[in-house]
Amino acid sequence: MEILKPSEENIRRAGEALARGLLVAIPTETVYGLGASAFDVRAVARVFEAKNRPVFDPLIVHVDSLEMVDRVATIPSPRVRALMEGLWPGPLTLILPRREAVPDLVTSGLPTVAVRLPANAIARAVIAAAGLPVAAPSANPFGYLSPTLPEHVARMLGGRVDFIVDGGACPIGVESTILDATKEPFTVLRPGGMALEAIEELAGPVEVFNRSVARPTSPGQLPSHYAPRTPLYLFPSGGLAEARPAGRAAALLFEPASLAALERSGRAAAFAELRVLAPGGTALEAAAALFAVLHELDGGGFDAICAERLPEAGLGRAVNDRLYKASEK
Ligand code: TXA
Ligand code: MG
Repeated sequence: MEILKPSEENIRRAGEALARGLLVAIPTETVYGLGASAFDVRAVARVFEAKNRPVFDPLIVHVDSLEMVDRVATIPSPRVRALMEGLWPGPLTLILPRREAVPDLVTSGLPTVAVRLPANAIARAVIAAAGLPVAAPSANPFGYLSPTLPEHVARMLGGRVDFIVDGGACPIGVESTILDATKEPFTVLRPGGMALEAIEELAGPVEVFNRSVARPTSPGQLPSHYAPRTPLYLFPSGGLAEARPAGRAAALLFEPASLAALERSGRAAAFAELRVLAPGGTALEAAAALFAVLHELDGGGFDAICAERLPEAGLGRAVNDRLYKASEK
């Protein structure tokens, strides 16, 4: 495995490696992806193997432009095209009718394919250099925390990937929002980096997959995913004073005001460590820090992590979804 700084020369090397069927981890604005040529079944098979990912879990295909979408999917309506033109590049994955050229392994045999045009310029440059759409799940072992730093990828998958393109920290920090655009009303299958409010502003009201009434159709919808090894217990916003952790526990607080409230309650001493996700108090900041802080706490030898929910708006929805999936049920 080699880590590549994103120079012009290295971007060319990474693109050539993908075109030759090698595995290249690429930075995106959300999390690092484990990339392979979407048209190379052997390379895609290596991705599943590297992640220990079940083959019934389809991959997202990343493109460098709207033109490249045409190689993997059809655009079912002018409304879907308007979404692409309005919100791409960005942290939004669209489920679209697939083209025959996409191997079944990429889509798990579904008649649809997940497509994303990332905002990260390095990612787009690497895809352009490959000259191919790039299938890329998050670059973590299946079910574990996603990587937001090149070191996370190196630590988790170092021996199983050929190159890691170093794009520094991922600014959004939670995975893309997945929107099923094959039928109307559109349905959010996974809340993520693109806020629901931004989608609805453009597309009108959309449905949100509700795990209490619907059956999961993809592992991203399973109740347990994105989890640290340390047991994580989830509390309502402002509810950490109710926690009674056994052993050495870490408290994961949203903002300075939550910390102040916990201290006022006299319960702060129940925790060996107090961590604030967003010193500035925004959900955007909490999302960007979430996985890096969880990776760190997971390596901190704690018996438990107690986390509070965020207000359920904007990126707070995506952070709450990941915390819920990371938590003990
Ligand atoms: O931000 C992201 O989306 C990152 C970066 C690397 O782009 N990627 C990512 O990929 O999170 P992954 O594989 O960890 O999650 C992709 C999710 C899975 O839950 C998968 O089941 C779902 O997308 N998915 C893929 N194709 C689908 C399809 N045709 N229909 C429904 N869900 C699909
Ligand atoms: Mg993932």
